[in-house]
Amino acid sequence: MGDAKYMVAIVGAGPAGLYAARKLAEGGAHVVLFNRDIKPGGLAEYGIYPDKYKMKTGLRLQFKQVLASPQIDYFGNVTVCCGGNIVLEDLLESGFQAVLVTTGAQGTKWLRLPGENLPSVYHAKNIVYHYNSLPPFSEKKYLLGKRIVVVGAGNVMMDIAHYLIRQRKVEEVIVVVRRGPAEVKFTRAEMEIVGANLDIAALDSEFERVSGCMHAAGQDPALVKTAFLSAIPKAAPPVSNTRFRFEFLASPVRVLGDWMNGVNALKVEDNNLLAVDGNIKARGTGETRQIECDTVIFAIGDTVDRDFCVPIFNDAYVASPTPRFPVADTSYEAFNPDIDQPIERVFLAGWARQASVGLVGVARRDGERAAEAVLKFLNTQPPMRDLENVVEKFDQRLVETHERIVDKQHLAKLEAAEIAEAQKMQLEDFKFGSNDEMFAAMDY
Ligand SMILES: Cc1cc2nc3c(=O)[nH]c(=O)nc-3n(C[C@H](O)[C@H](O)[C@H](O)COP(=O)(O)OP(=O)(O)OC[C@H]3O[C@@H](n4cnc5c(N)ncnc54)[C@H](O)[C@@H]3O)c2cc1C
Ligand SMILES: NC(=O)c1ccc[n+]([C@@H]2O[C@H](COP(=O)([O-])OP(=O)(O)OC[C@H]3O[C@@H](n4cnc5c(N)ncnc54)[C@H](OP(=O)(O)O)[C@@H]3O)[C@@H](O)[C@H]2O)c1
Repeated sequence: MGDAKYMVAIVGAGPAGLYAARKLAEGGAHVVLFNRDIKPGGLAEYGIYPDKYKMKTGLRLQFKQVLASPQIDYFGNVTVCCGGNIVLEDLLESGFQAVLVTTGAQGTKWLRLPGENLPSVYHAKNIVYHYNSLPPFSEKKYLLGKRIVVVGAGNVMMDIAHYLIRQRKVEEVIVVVRRGPAEVKFTRAEMEIVGANLDIAALDSEFERVSGCMHAAGQDPALVKTAFLSAIPKAAPPVSNTRFRFEFLASPVRVLGDWMNGVNALKVEDNNLLAVDGNIKARGTGETRQIECDTVIFAIGDTVDRDFCVPIFNDAYVASPTPRFPVADTSYEAFNPDIDQPIERVFLAGWARQASVGLVGVARRDGERAAEAVLKFLNTQPPMRDLENVVEKFDQRLVETHERIVDKQHLAKLEAAEIAEAQKMQLEDFKFGSNDEMFAAMDY
């Protein structure tokens, strides 16, 4: 335990949890990371597009350096709450002085539309986890057809378009956007990857169709179009004939089809744009139409897991409105609004605190700030004695309740095996696609 004075559990070893662990260890805490997945990294490992090798390798290296600290333990393949064998209270009662929840946004945001549960209607997260080789998603079949609607206009939509256009090489990708072309959220760099497939004639007529609404909302369609197309001169050479197009000012209202034949169209309601207090909102016109397709993928952001033991508001776990240990004017303390009380000793960070918000750098900053909040709290507590005993007792409990807990030695074996496979197959990167294969590689 070295010179550690405090004992903290972190649930979730994505970027928020890992960078928080480093900061807490620097502040004198012994940290135990519990992670649902075998491997650490969260969406940095299983979200970031697989061919961003440089970014992924750089992050993996940083995470490895974090885990090299003797003050940080790693327990992978351990789910807390959410159907797992341990719950938040177990951690609090076992001697951990504080628990930081950094579980990300693992729940699915349903729009509750008729037809939403038909085959070939998916949520982007599952497809992202599938092509990024995260079990069990990697082992499931996803029935992706030829004409695919993707709902949403963020970078996740762009990653899905990237996969459909450059890997699956489908016939058509139609992006359905509830507001207009000025409100899309994806970045230029992501458009460069798929821009060569953009159907410019279709985009021109779509701009023509929505220009009246844009003018009414005080926008200049010509300027917006220039910005929209700014990535095209730098677009990567195409590798498929996929037609890539956008439908603006359209909100999904129903998925049409049946259980025998699957999806045949997405019914949408046309919207107008409304400027309210400086924000542009979509307002339904009551007019509906159908967009023919055989698959619908919702890329509209995620929500946190409902089965965790912390109340939810606005897709994220609730933070106290009156924090006792604020950092940068932000509350990192979990709160129960039903009884108007903080959840003592429980803190939040990353996408668990703000679902689907920001890049890895944002999650890192959030994790580090949350760690500061935890340290402020710990400094009001007496230093802990008998840390070894707490860890030992808890280890014993875990071994009794869990089949295979993955530690740092296992991770090192897995990493070596995956690097060897990549070299053998002359690939930039290789991942085992099932837990069984990963355990076999670890001799576990
Ligand atoms: C498709 C996609 C692509 C992205 N691409 C980029 C990119 O190119 N560049 C960039 O900078 N950012 C990118 N991001 C954003 C970035 O990945 C996130 O900002 C960041 O990963 C959020 O970190 P987090 O730690 O809060 O959550 P996550 O990364 O989701 O980590 C959560 C961790 O918690 C664990 N966990 C979940 N539930 C439990 C539980 N009950 N018990 C125990 N452990 C649990 C999970 O196993 C996971 O390891 C992308 C995001 C997505 C969705
Ligand atoms: N390559 C990368 O760097 C990369 C890749 C993936 C993700 N990320 C990051 O991860 C974060 C999350 O990305 P994201 O794409 O999930 O979220 P996002 O950027 O917030 O985009 C979500 C999209 O879904 C739409 N939407 C939300 N609710 C809807 C509804 N009920 N009906 C119709 N449309 C709806 C939004 O429209 P409105 O605007 O109208 O709300 C928006 O277009 C972002 O910070 C993103 O930059 C980065």
